[in-house]
Amino acid sequence: MYAPYPENMMESIKKVEATRAERMATEPRRLTADEKDALLKEFHPDYNPDAFAEIKVGPNKGQKAPLELAAMLHSTSRLMSETIDLTKIDYDVDVLVIGGGGAGSSCAIEAHNAGANVMIVTKLRIGDANTMMAEGGIQAADKENDSPVPHYLDCFGGGHFAAKPELVKRLVMEAPDAIKWLNELGVEFDKEEDGRMVTTHGGGTSRKRMHAAKDYSGAEIMRTLRDEVLNLGIPVVEFTSAVELLKDEKGQVAGAVLLNMETGDYSVAKAKTVVIATGGAGRMHYQGFPTSNHYGATADGLVLGYRAGAPLLYQDSIQYHPTGAVYPPQIMGALVTEKVRSVGAQLVNKNGEAYIHPLETRDVNASGVIRECQEGRGVEVPGGQQGVWLDTPMIEILGGEGTIEKRIPAMFRMYMNYGIDMRKVPILIYPTLHYQNGGLEIDGDGFTKTIPNLLVAGEAAGGIHGRNRLMGNSLLDVIVFGRNAGKKAAAKCKSVELGEPNLNHINTYAEELKEANVETGNVSPLLLPKYARHER
Ligand code: FUM
Repeated sequence: MYAPYPENMMESIKKVEATRAERMATEPRRLTADEKDALLKEFHPDYNPDAFAEIKVGPNKGQKAPLELAAMLHSTSRLMSETIDLTKIDYDVDVLVIGGGGAGSSCAIEAHNAGANVMIVTKLRIGDANTMMAEGGIQAADKENDSPVPHYLDCFGGGHFAAKPELVKRLVMEAPDAIKWLNELGVEFDKEEDGRMVTTHGGGTSRKRMHAAKDYSGAEIMRTLRDEVLNLGIPVVEFTSAVELLKDEKGQVAGAVLLNMETGDYSVAKAKTVVIATGGAGRMHYQGFPTSNHYGATADGLVLGYRAGAPLLYQDSIQYHPTGAVYPPQIMGALVTEKVRSVGAQLVNKNGEAYIHPLETRDVNASGVIRECQEGRGVEVPGGQQGVWLDTPMIEILGGEGTIEKRIPAMFRMYMNYGIDMRKVPILIYPTLHYQNGGLEIDGDGFTKTIPNLLVAGEAAGGIHGRNRLMGNSLLDVIVFGRNAGKKAAAKCKSVELGEPNLNHINTYAEELKEANVETGNVSPLLLPKYARHER
C-alpha cells in the first residue's frame, strides 16, 4: 500500500478518503459576515494582543506594530557610529530605485523609457524578491463577463473596506494594461488553443480573473522583467543595501547611503527622486511563524522611510497564507499556492470534515485552519506541529487525470521530491507568514505624504489592499504601482532642484528615541534575517 506519511497521518487519510464522495457532492457553504468576524477575532494572529507593541516615536507614535517591527523602528541607525563623507558622491542619478524585485524592475523600466537616468540598488541580486516566489497568478478584469468594477468590489470588500479608494481604483483600472504589457514583454501566460488567456478563481473573487503561468507565475514574470532591465542597460548595483535615505535642507529626499554587503564599504547615491521598492517582511517571522518569503524580506524600506519621517499605514495587519507546507519538515512554511484550491482541493480536518469553503478570503481560511488545530481537529506531525489536509486527489477526479501536472507542476515536483504523490494522497498545511498588508502610506500617484520626491511601490506600500489582500493582487500591484512610480518619478525629476544632502534626520530620530527612553542597543534596518551568517 502506498503510505508516504507516518501511521497517525495515514489513519486520518482513511477518514478523508471515506468522506470524499459525499464532500464532492455538497460544496461547503460560505460563512456569513458575522461568522467570519467572529472567526477572525478569535483565531487570526492579528488579534493576538501579546504579539504587538506600541510605537514610541515617529509619525505613528502611539499606534501598534508587530513586536519585531516595533523593535526595528526603535533601533538606531547603522550610521550613528560611522562617518560618511556626503561631499563624495559615488552615484548621481535622476531616479534611484531601492529594490530589484517586480516593483523595482517595473519602475526602472518605465523611468528609463521616459528618458530618466535610473539606477537600481538591491541588497541581493536582481530578482531575489517575493515576486519570484509568487505562484498562483495575477488578477485583471479583462474578460467579457468582468470589468474593473467587480474587481474593485472584491478587493475593497476582501480588505475589510479599509483600502484607500484611489489606490484600489488605480490597481483595478490599470490591471488589463498590466497583463497586456507583460504579455508583450514575453511572459508566457497559460493560454487556450485559440490564444485566449486561461483564468481561474482565487479566494474572494466573484469572477475568474486570475491569469497564471502554471504555478510559477511570479518566477515567469520576474524572469521577463529582469531580462528587460538588463536588455535596456539599466545599471543594477547588486549585493548593496540602502541603509539610510538622504534629505536636503528643504526636506526633500536627496538619495541614499549604500552599504556593500560583501566588503562593508559605504557609498553615497545622490538622486532627485527615490523609489522604495524593498518588498515585504516575512523573514521577521512575526509570532514565530515560518514564511513563504524570500531571504531578504526584512522590512528594510519601512524603517528607511519611517526614520526619515514618512508615516506607515496598517503596519499591524499581516497576511498569513492559509496553506503553507507543514509536512515534510524540510519544506515547512513553503507556499502551497491557493491555485491548489482554485483547481479543486478542499480543506479537510483530521476527521475528514470539509469544515470551511476552500475559497473564503485568506484571513478567514487561515483562521479556520488555526481553529481546527487549536480545537483538536488538526493532524499531528512528528515535531509537534499540526495541520489540516488539502485534499489534492480531488483535483484529478474533478479535472481529469493529468490536471495536477498540467496546472500545478511545481507543486507536484516539490512534493514528489519527498516521495509524496499529491495525486494519490492529500497534503498537510498550516498558515505561513506571507505578506505585509500595510506599509508606507502613499497618495494615489505613489508619493509619500511627507517627504517630497520619495515614492513607494510594491509590498512596501500600504493602503492598496486594506487589511487583507486577495490572491493575485500582489503581482498586480507590483506591476501597476511599479510602472506608475517609474513614470511619475521620471516626470518629477525634471523639476527638482536638489540642495546639499544631509543625514540630520537620523540624529533627530535618535533624540526622539532618547526622550522616549527607548534604548535597544540594536541597529536597523535588519537587512538579513537573524539567522544569517555574518562572515566575511
Ligand atoms: O497562493 C498563491 O499562489 C499566492 C498568491 C498571492 O499571494 O497573490
